[in-house]
Amino acid sequence: MVSRVIPVDPFDLVIFGGSGDLARRKILPGLFRRFVSGQMPESAQIIGAARSDFDEVQYRALIKDAICSFGEIKASHPDLAPFLERLGYVRIDVRGDGGWQVLEKKIRSDTVRVFYFSVGPSLFGDIAQRLRQHRIALNDSRIVVEKPFGRDLISAQDLNNTLARHFNEDQIYRIDHYLGKETVQNLMAVRFANILFEPLWNSQYIDHIQITVAEKVGVDGRGEYYDKSGAMRDMVQNHLMQLLCLIAMEPPSQFNPEAVRDEKLKVIRALDQVEPHHVVRGQYGPVGDAPGYRDHVDNLASRTESYIALKTNVKNWRWAGTPFYLRTGKRLKQRLSEIAVVFKDPPHSIFGKVAGAQGNTLVIRLQPDEGITMDVTIKEPGPGGMRLVNVPLDMTFAEALGPTLEDVPDAYERLIMDVMRGNQTLFMRGDEVEAAWKWTDSIIEGWENRGDVPKPYDSHSAGPQDSLMLLNRDNRKWRSL
Ligand code: BG6
Repeated sequence: MVSRVIPVDPFDLVIFGGSGDLARRKILPGLFRRFVSGQMPESAQIIGAARSDFDEVQYRALIKDAICSFGEIKASHPDLAPFLERLGYVRIDVRGDGGWQVLEKKIRSDTVRVFYFSVGPSLFGDIAQRLRQHRIALNDSRIVVEKPFGRDLISAQDLNNTLARHFNEDQIYRIDHYLGKETVQNLMAVRFANILFEPLWNSQYIDHIQITVAEKVGVDGRGEYYDKSGAMRDMVQNHLMQLLCLIAMEPPSQFNPEAVRDEKLKVIRALDQVEPHHVVRGQYGPVGDAPGYRDHVDNLASRTESYIALKTNVKNWRWAGTPFYLRTGKRLKQRLSEIAVVFKDPPHSIFGKVAGAQGNTLVIRLQPDEGITMDVTIKEPGPGGMRLVNVPLDMTFAEALGPTLEDVPDAYERLIMDVMRGNQTLFMRGDEVEAAWKWTDSIIEGWENRGDVPKPYDSHSAGPQDSLMLLNRDNRKWRSL
């Protein structure tokens, strides 16, 4: 039942930072899987571009190792050799002249040209300018840029302006890998391809919404980046914000990039200011011999949050009165990402309180075990009167769609293929990113001005106690992790 694989047009993909972590962990193993599936055409060319002094043979060996370890592929896989043949390498000085002419000669004239900036944002301007100067990027070429797209509104505006000097908006693909997740896209299908949910999709029927992205991992190994960022910048401004947008947006008139992104932008602009007492920040502590956050980031005075929970409102007719609770954190009890749409109780219960549970919750689970369930209330089977019980109506994809689900591309694969197709629907537009930063900045400024210190929480717990209060005060509670 998985949709047919339609090969994309022949392309030349240049990956700046081609020997870096992201390229080795995600981009190249992902492309390999698309090659195996038949979606990447035989004639495609991938060129790694980086500072390191590799020749082509060494680069291919490096990528082979990466595909085997991160892609969990056996070195004897029959498609590995033909895939690696598609791979070239150019040693490039992104701030100087070295390598650009070599790169120019390698690019073919009749293919889709894509340039993946898998490097820090401080290099975006240099690369963009040289791609244009050497006529390697043309008016129909595409560039892909990664997060972090700035660290506040001003830096995001600077980045947008820098890129805009060399490329039009329709050439720029800003990746948020959450938008490439299968369930996230399914959320749109569930909302807009069924009559069932949309009539109830408003504050008259929805009590509140919980968005949770809980991780088990800590920040060890990424401390230098993370301590300057924190959960708000690293996760909320982008991933959780995108989930919120897809839940809250009005139905776009078409499933096309401008229509979808216009609607998401309206949601971000309608987000209410967040009250200081509606934000809870936390930092994980040591457990046993395992170090805590401050040791991981090597900053014993750090005030950066590894956990954040907040309550916000979307100020429009549809959502007035339905709060959105967001939480994300590292080193929590378990890895769990989900959106829970909690419906109101029926206005009148004919069964009385003793009958038991009532109510509906739609849970869109991103990971692990992605799927969608709807809790419904039914009669507990058997004799003994009318007792009610909540059971999930399970729309778990693996069961419904069978074993071929394994072939479903992961987030990066899907998004890279969308770039090749020239489809920007699942990429963030410049104004969207700026609006998200504007909202985020006001919250961060608030806690910085107050000199707020994050609350400690135990590693492998559900986060700081105060985050429970955020909901308890409203007579609600977080779903358990
Ligand atoms: C990244 C963040 O964007 O997303 C990481 O920088 C985080 O801190 C990661 O761990 C989570 O992604 P996923 O797909 O594992 O939920």
